[in-house]
Amino acid sequence: MTKNRRIAVIGAGIAGLGPAWQLARRGWDVEVFEAGTLGAGATSKAGGMLAPTAEATYEEEELLALELESLHAYPRWIDELQSAADVDVDYRTEGTLIVAIDRDDAEALDRLHDYHQRLGLTAERLDRSQALELEPGLSPRIHRALRVTSDVQVDPAAMLNALAVAVTRQGGTIHEECPVEALDIDDALRGLILKDGRRLPFDHVLLATGAWTPQIGGIPEGVLPHVRPVRGQMLCLGLGDPPLLRHVLRAPDAYLIPKSDGRLLVGATMEERGFDPHPTAGGFMDLLVGAWEALPGVYDAPVLDTWVGFRPITLSNHPTLGPTDIEGLYLSVGHGRNGILLAPTTAYELASWIDSGEPPEILRSFAPRSPSSPPPPAR
Ligand code: GLY
Repeated sequence: MTKNRRIAVIGAGIAGLGPAWQLARRGWDVEVFEAGTLGAGATSKAGGMLAPTAEATYEEEELLALELESLHAYPRWIDELQSAADVDVDYRTEGTLIVAIDRDDAEALDRLHDYHQRLGLTAERLDRSQALELEPGLSPRIHRALRVTSDVQVDPAAMLNALAVAVTRQGGTIHEECPVEALDIDDALRGLILKDGRRLPFDHVLLATGAWTPQIGGIPEGVLPHVRPVRGQMLCLGLGDPPLLRHVLRAPDAYLIPKSDGRLLVGATMEERGFDPHPTAGGFMDLLVGAWEALPGVYDAPVLDTWVGFRPITLSNHPTLGPTDIEGLYLSVGHGRNGILLAPTTAYELASWIDSGEPPEILRSFAPRSPSSPPPPAR
């Protein structure tokens, strides 16, 4: 039973601001609470490659369907966001090249191509000379490549700024440096308890707190999925002039993402180290060697920046999206490696569900589980 159309969104990353914007467009009164500053969480640490085909993972077809739906929604999302906010989000459509460096990689690439064909996904096989014609900076040692023209990319930090502008212009409020200690729940959801002790009444709360979700208190056991931080180190290099690279490049041990402002992002490690914020020499060495093997010109590229991000990953690798058993409490958590890609579907479909009470078909298998149901199989 809907009590009013006023909602607190906890977390000003893409998983929170997207639905917040769409709810504000539907006439909801939206207040967003962010523990740090805008971009302090995982969103602005992401590379922004939207590559469901290049990154297709065996036996993850349900997640792939959600990713493809979101990819198809991207042109509309970008149009609406850029016109709502007047912010360029560097949406680029050159596509992805996946390169095989040695024979083992080449076999893995062939298996991936077979898998693409079984799923009806389009990827074009390129021999070495065709790949070098497209990207002359590639190593002449590569065996072959796959080209995926349906993959695209954006600048996640620019998208976050655009969303913040869009939310605000639509009448929403974003409270930065305003950490939430707990949800105020007795026999029903009453609202929020802030770290400074204030209690704010809300009938509706959307939790979009990424890897930090378990730190929000007051939520009965079993309501939240198990979410953990999976650490990713990244480097930002200078792309050079003329640019070293135009396509997104997926090499066996690193991916490289050229940005229109002259940055070349190199990512990303996958590490189980909790919230350890310290980058490591080994992490950077692995990424740089992986990048250099595919694109030797990175050897001379200036290092402009480095950082560590924390992907919110669940045991099933699936995001959890929708209403919980606690009336008025909704989840948008666990987007894992796909938060930027899943932004449009998360925003449009989750807002529709919260607003109408009707579960969109595409989100049915991502709905929060009831505390009494058995845990999902870990992958
Ligand atoms: N989607 C790329 C990553 O998580 O590193």
